Amino acid sequence: MKTARSAPTCSLMRHAVFIALLGFASLALFGCNYSEMRDDEAVQAYNEEFPQMPKKTIPVDGGVWVEREANPMEIVDPLADDSKMRAWGWERYHFYCVQCHGPMLDGNGTVGQSFAPLPANLKSSKVQDLSDGEIFYNVRFGFNRHPPLYSTLTDDETWAIVRYVRSMRVNSE
Ligand code: HEC
Repeated sequence: MKTARSAPTCSLMRHAVFIALLGFASLALFGCNYSEMRDDEAVQAYNEEFPQMPKKTIPVDGGVWVEREANPMEIVDPLADDSKMRAWGWERYHFYCVQCHGPMLDGNGTVGQSFAPLPANLKSSKVQDLSDGEIFYNVRFGFNRHPPLYSTLTDDETWAIVRYVRSMRVNSE
């Protein structure tokens, strides 16, 4: 009697296992269609060739990141050192430097007084003995507490200011 009762249960179990296996097998075969994902528009976009960029889109021989890598001692002022340039430098100085370095270039700007160390006296030999390239580089990329101004001033504006600062050298200091 025991066997007679257990026989149908057993065959039911076997059926269930068979159906489950069939289910798994068909899932494995047809459930995930990976090729569909590969064909998807979102994925396809990465297979497309890059569009031709106009020449000189990426700077390789100029630009601020190339400038930053340069040796300050080797940077040469490309602009003329004449009165026009110094006058432009004077004007730009009074926009961008005067708050800290003061109208007399002596480091006595009103904003600058909250800095430690105080802004440098730009007429002093400490500053004037730097090369043009060093002043240019320090102003552009900053140092210690000095703000980097490369995104505020253009190359040419910075050089014009360097020309103006140079013209203010006081030999006795
Ligand atoms: C927000 C204030 C601030 C502004 C704006 C500013 N400076 Fe300065 N500058 C300083 C301070 C502070 C120092 C001294 C930093 C130190 O020694 O750590 C300094 C130092 C310098 C030095 C000395 C460089 C050296 O190597 O010792 C030069 C040159 C200079 N500044 C030029 C300029 C010029 C040119 C401008 C305008 C384009 C300018 N700074 C704008 C605050 C300022």
